[in-house]
Order: sequence, then C-alpha cells, then structure tokens
Amino acid sequence: MKDRARRAIAECLHIATMSEEPCRITRRFLTPPVHQVHAHLRARMESLGMSVQVDAAGNLRGLWQPTGAGGKRLLIGSHIDTVPNAGAFDGLLGVALALECVDIAQELALPLAIEVIAFSEEEGVRYGSPFLGSRAVAGRFDTALLALTDSDGIPMEAAMRNFGLDPDKLTEAAMNTNAAAFLEIHIEQGPVLEAEGLHVAAVSAIAGQTRLTLTFRGQANHAGTTPMHLRHDALAAAAEWITVVEALARKADGLVATVGRVSVEPNAGNVVPGLVQVSLDVRHSHDEARSSVVEELVTRASTIATSRGLTLERIDRLDQPAVPMDERLTSFLTDAMEAAGFPVKTMPSGAGHDAMVMAARVPTAMLFLRSLAGISHHPAESVLEEDVEAALKVSREFLLRFASDVR
Ligand code: GLV
Ligand code: MN
Ligand code: MN
Repeated sequence: MKDRARRAIAECLHIATMSEEPCRITRRFLTPPVHQVHAHLRARMESLGMSVQVDAAGNLRGLWQPTGAGGKRLLIGSHIDTVPNAGAFDGLLGVALALECVDIAQELALPLAIEVIAFSEEEGVRYGSPFLGSRAVAGRFDTALLALTDSDGIPMEAAMRNFGLDPDKLTEAAMNTNAAAFLEIHIEQGPVLEAEGLHVAAVSAIAGQTRLTLTFRGQANHAGTTPMHLRHDALAAAAEWITVVEALARKADGLVATVGRVSVEPNAGNVVPGLVQVSLDVRHSHDEARSSVVEELVTRASTIATSRGLTLERIDRLDQPAVPMDERLTSFLTDAMEAAGFPVKTMPSGAGHDAMVMAARVPTAMLFLRSLAGISHHPAESVLEEDVEAALKVSREFLLRFASDVR
C-alpha cells in the first residue's frame, strides 16, 4: 500500500498546480482549472478501464463495471473544488483514494461495480451555497439556485453553460436505484486524531450547518462633512453585530459560528460605508440548538440595524440538518479497521461533506484520516504517508466486506 499512498499524495500535489491563482490553490466551481482537473482525472480513470462522463452539474464520474458484478454499485468520492488559498488534500485526497480503491478492487478481482465521483462543488465559495455537485447526484438540486450570481455577477446557469454543461439536464445527474452505498474518504481537518495518536476513524455523524448572508443597508456619505450622530454607517453596524456573533457562539456549548466574508460599499477610505454584506456560518450537532442561535443572531442584527437607522435583509443559503452515518456501513468500516490492525475509533465531523447530502438518498459512511497539526482550509494542510497507507489498508478490508455483502 506504500506505493499507492505515495501515488495518491503525488496526485493531490500535482492537481494543486491546477489553480485560478499562481502560487496559491484556489479552484472554485466550474472555473477554468476545473477543465484541467477533469482532463487529468479522466485519463487516469480511462487507464483503469473505467467509462467516464461529466454530468450536468459538472461532476466527473467514472464507472468500473467488472464482468460478473451485479446491478448494484458502490459510489466512492469527494470534491475537487477548494476554498481560496487552500491546501492540497481537502476533497482531492478522497478522489485520489477512490481511484486507488478501484485499483485495489481490480487487484483483488472483486466482482464489484464502483462509481468514482469527483464532485464539482462542495465548499460553497463561488455561489455562497455548498454541495452543488452532491445535491445534483442526490436528486436534491433546487433549480432556484441557478439564478444565484457570483462576485462577478455571473449567474450559475450561465457559468454552467460557459463550462459546456446543460442545466436543463440536471435531473439526469441524479443517482438511480443501482447505487447501493456511498463512501467518502477525507482528511479529518481537525486535531483529534493527532491528539490521540491515531491514523484513522470512522465518522459517526456530521454536524448541521446554516449559511446565510445579511445585508446592512445604511447611507454612504462624505467622511469629512457627516457628523458622527447623523451617520448611518453600515460597517459600524456590521462590526457591532460580528462581536455579538462571537460572544453568543462562545456561550453556546458545542456551537461554532463564523463571519468569514464581508463586502463593503463603496469601500473607500473617505466615504462612510453605505452597504455591507456579511456571511454567517453556524454549526452544531443538534439542529434545534443551531436554529435557535441563528434566529437569535438575526434578531440581534435587526435590532442593531434599527437602532442605527439602517435596514437589514437576509438571504438564506443553506439549512442542512445534522446527519448520522449509516450504522451498518459504518460497522463494515470499524470491522475493517480492526482487521487491518488499527484501533477502532469513531468520531463526529464538524466540517461539512458531500456525504451528508448523499446520506439522504443512499447508505453512507465516511473514513477520516489524520490531518497534520489539525490544519485545514489553509496551504499548510498536510498528511503523513503512513496515514494515507492506513486509510488504504482499511479501505481494502472495507471493499472485501462490502463486495461479499452486496452480492
Ligand atoms: C467544508 O469544507 C465545510 O465548510 O465544512
Ligand atoms: Mn472537504
Ligand atoms: Mn473544505
């Protein structure tokens, strides 16, 4: 497995060069470097004897259908988009390891059909709305999303057409009854496995997420002539609210809330800010705890806006409940860990994953491997070869168990 681990890491480092920005990894949904990634992965899939297609949501899908396999297939995959200035392994390693799983299944001559899916969008960076690829595969793509615009004003529908996709065919991207299960392999993106000295874990459940955008609308005016008590400063209002977000989240056990994006108009040093848009990302493993904090935060934003003579608008972008992984499929993973000689460990995921969308349609499990220093969504993101090797050994045992079960 050492050679496979090295090859998977090398794939991630090579694909990291396919970026929107020189010297940084940034690869948003359907941007030009995605064509390069598709070409590279397509060649690899074809060399494994897989038949390859790109669906209407821009997911690259390769099917390994050995003779003797039944009608059911195992889906394995993760995403190929990234956050701005990303690391090389979030998402991509799961795709590279999915291809290694096909190689392992071929070596074992398993009569198991495997569809590898390189999801086009998971991060929600370009359109503020995540899981676009997996939502299409799960048959949950709401076509109202097509009207969302990116920071250049390009509607999603136009981005799809420009990439060569046909959004009228989105429903055809949905999986059908031949999908028996979905497995996603992913870096942990946190510090737990490192702190416990473990290589791998099975995911028990994925925390729910809310994402929304708030717009504070005030009045832009001259910075020199507008007295302080006559201002309607949208940025001062947003700043006051952001400190409320942090304070409330700190008080709510197990909850994380983030304002990661702020845009200011007109964004000039000598103009009182007239309009500010802020993102809000709230996560918790209990949905009621998440919803109540979200509603409280929006109420507080509205109070702050009113007290300053501003208006507030809200755009909801995601309300994704917490999702447990499939118990039976997860037991194949924990049995696989034991058989491969690793301690059995299960843990929840605070990060969102395509697996949480797929789980609504098909039994789903996730395998985590250690992230160095728990760092992710950062260029310093890294993995150890021994951990990738461990994930491959567990995957091999998982494939053996799954193949004999699905027959
Ligand atoms: C995806 O990486 C997320 O934001 O959890
Ligand atoms: Mn990811
Ligand atoms: Mn990510």
